[in-house]
Amino acid sequence: MDRALNRRAFLKMTGATGAMAAAFQPVAALSQGSKAQEVENRVFAASAIPDRILLIPTEDSARSQCVTWRTWEKVSNPLAQIAVADGSPHFTSSAVTVPGTTSVLKATDGKDWRDYYHRVFFTGLEPEASYHYRLGDGSTWSEWFLFKTSAETLKPFSFIYLGDAQNNILSEWSHVVRRARVQDPDIRFMLHAGDLVNHEDSDEEWGQWHQGDGWAQSGISCLATPGNHEYKLESISPQWNHQFAFPGNGPDSRRLTNTVYYVDYQNVRFISLDTTLMHNPYYARKQRIWLKECLKNNPCRWTIAFHHHPMRAGASGRTGHFLLNLHIRPLYEKYGVHLVLQGHDHTYARGSLKPIFGKYRPTYMVSVSGPKMYTASASWADVSVGNRQVFQHISVDEEALHVKSLISTGELVDSFSLNHAGV
Ligand SMILES: [Fe+2]
Repeated sequence: MDRALNRRAFLKMTGATGAMAAAFQPVAALSQGSKAQEVENRVFAASAIPDRILLIPTEDSARSQCVTWRTWEKVSNPLAQIAVADGSPHFTSSAVTVPGTTSVLKATDGKDWRDYYHRVFFTGLEPEASYHYRLGDGSTWSEWFLFKTSAETLKPFSFIYLGDAQNNILSEWSHVVRRARVQDPDIRFMLHAGDLVNHEDSDEEWGQWHQGDGWAQSGISCLATPGNHEYKLESISPQWNHQFAFPGNGPDSRRLTNTVYYVDYQNVRFISLDTTLMHNPYYARKQRIWLKECLKNNPCRWTIAFHHHPMRAGASGRTGHFLLNLHIRPLYEKYGVHLVLQGHDHTYARGSLKPIFGKYRPTYMVSVSGPKMYTASASWADVSVGNRQVFQHISVDEEALHVKSLISTGELVDSFSLNHAGV
């Protein structure tokens, strides 16, 4: 770290609290008055040091990479530095500085704070190359992180798929996501199937979500689709568009930008749909039209769709999503989507549906990684499991998709493989 720790970190390190903490307040902090006190009272307050760092995939993950992060308002000149990583400690001398852009999140809890979210795009990268990067403002910097670009063609890789985190995120979800991280240190991204938080505008819950996965998010890309808990009516979480910057290749619709998109990664097309807004027939139709083109013009060998609401229910008292079945299922069956990753029902279920609109038979999964549980009930499923917080390790190669569903002790709940014909 190039600069001294900020006050909060310093106090934490020294164990200073209460009156002792007040005695340690720098002159600058004291002069900020009640606003500084209010910031201090936030559980996950921003500081000069970058946090909430997310690696976001671009349309060309072999040659570019997006990173987003947060600071407090004093950082008005966001910068990133990047250098090729080859094991030498001298990489810093060849680092290139790249300017970022900033957006402002006003307090979502009625208080007076403002958080500054920044993003940068690294371009002109080499495929399958490792890079160091750090974030800052020219004087205060993060540590150097590490990421790797993708291959340009199909090459075996693995990723993690997680259902709803949603509740008691830091205390009862973090053990699942952390186990998923160490299950395979070479995973290429984490895929979140919605309901990352319980209250869309709760900055404390977003803080828990970021801390739950911690620094690991700075090294492996994040894919996410929103759930109903990321929405208030048809308005998405205030944090969503500041921290996520997914490829803008979705439908021509302001509300669907950054929630409906695709990412091609080593010959796999990942498609995010926004099934919450699909309750509105206008947005359902928009997504159907876009998805048809997305599937028709798909050059990838494998196709994996992910969205929050399931095609068929995974729990008792729940129902399938009518407009999803009406608009989207026919396209999955006609164009051969291999795997559909879903959440929402707080159970685990996996199976396929007899095709009625086409010849292909996608495999549908419902999963949950957080602690909230419903009663498992899925007559359509080959496997249905209740009362387990699960994560999925999914490996891709030319011949098959290999899926393992595990719990945080490392024990298997389910495993299966799909060949290219979807069986
Ligand atoms: Fe949900």
